[in-house]
Amino acid sequence: MNILTYESVSLDENEPSLLILDQTKLPNDINILHLTDIHDIHRAIYTLQVRGAPAIGIAAAFGLYLSARSLNAQDYPSFMAGLKEARDFLNSARPTAVNLSWALNRLYSVAEDSRDKSIPEIVEALKLEALAIKSEDTEMCRRIGEHGLTLIHDGVTILTHCNAGQLATSKYGTALAPIHLGREKGMNFRVYCDETRPLLQGARLTAFELMADGVDTTLICDNMAGQVMKEGKIDAVFVGCDRVAANGDSCNKIGTSSLAVLAKYYGVPFYVLGPTSTIDMSIQTGAEIVIEQRKPEEITEMWYAQRMAPQDVKVYNPAFDVTDHELITGIVTEHGIARPPYTDSLREIFTTIEKPSTPSL
Ligand code: MRU
Repeated sequence: MNILTYESVSLDENEPSLLILDQTKLPNDINILHLTDIHDIHRAIYTLQVRGAPAIGIAAAFGLYLSARSLNAQDYPSFMAGLKEARDFLNSARPTAVNLSWALNRLYSVAEDSRDKSIPEIVEALKLEALAIKSEDTEMCRRIGEHGLTLIHDGVTILTHCNAGQLATSKYGTALAPIHLGREKGMNFRVYCDETRPLLQGARLTAFELMADGVDTTLICDNMAGQVMKEGKIDAVFVGCDRVAANGDSCNKIGTSSLAVLAKYYGVPFYVLGPTSTIDMSIQTGAEIVIEQRKPEEITEMWYAQRMAPQDVKVYNPAFDVTDHELITGIVTEHGIARPPYTDSLREIFTTIEKPSTPSL
């Protein structure tokens, strides 16, 4: 069994619990967590035991269903009050990826629309909605992969940042979906992975999952990306996203925007890949995105045998940055590839989703 045979997040329906492949232990240990308590689920999201925008949305949806099961409410208003509290608590685990609130609100709306049902029936409907979010994610990622594959061909070299692979989703990933899908079709690629300081998602997760898929994988430190581009080694940059604004500004793991600047300078196409659930049409630009700030210890101590910075040094540790839309060659979604100007192309995608074509009679 290799890492790609494990699910990053799933629901055990028999002994209702959330199963999470603990990403903080990879690549050294494969450890599955069985969680039922909302505080443990919140902690798992905050500490990145489950991580990546789509995966945290799925985990939170299962978490909200499990909390709903354990609410001891006698009537609909008190059930909804408990559900709202659980939703808001889970939503507070991480602020940047829109998929978290998107998935939680999707479940909450199901309960809002079920006033005429019994509480056990509402709980069952929440379970089905959470399972649907997960299976839709697999389908969305596969379609992102198909669209992304039209941008590349056998033998190309891709540079990626952080982990937007299967571990961050239900299957295939987003930025890595074209690679995994291409592998299924017998294609070969080379991928350079940024190690992704400070939490090393590129080194620990992306390199691990790509090697498990037989991809020719090369690990570099984040500050080496300019050099490999200058040496002409990179055909395209593929990255994921945590929240995309209506104008195409794309928020992703810290370090992504400097990669985009480098790619522009060296003439390397820069693509953002993500599902429409990551596009937040309610915000006009990336300036409205809340950037998560994390603990100083992630920079000064984590991973080192001893502290590697003077005591009391000031530390700034933003977990994400926003890449300006001018630097992005295309945004690959499950509904196709949006091209500049994004204000028009993203709106066009959402108009198509809202107005599905009428089936012919
Ligand atoms: O802090 P993380 O590891 O959750 O950050 C993840 C990323 O930035 C990913 O690129 C993004 O969520 C897309 S995952 C398909």
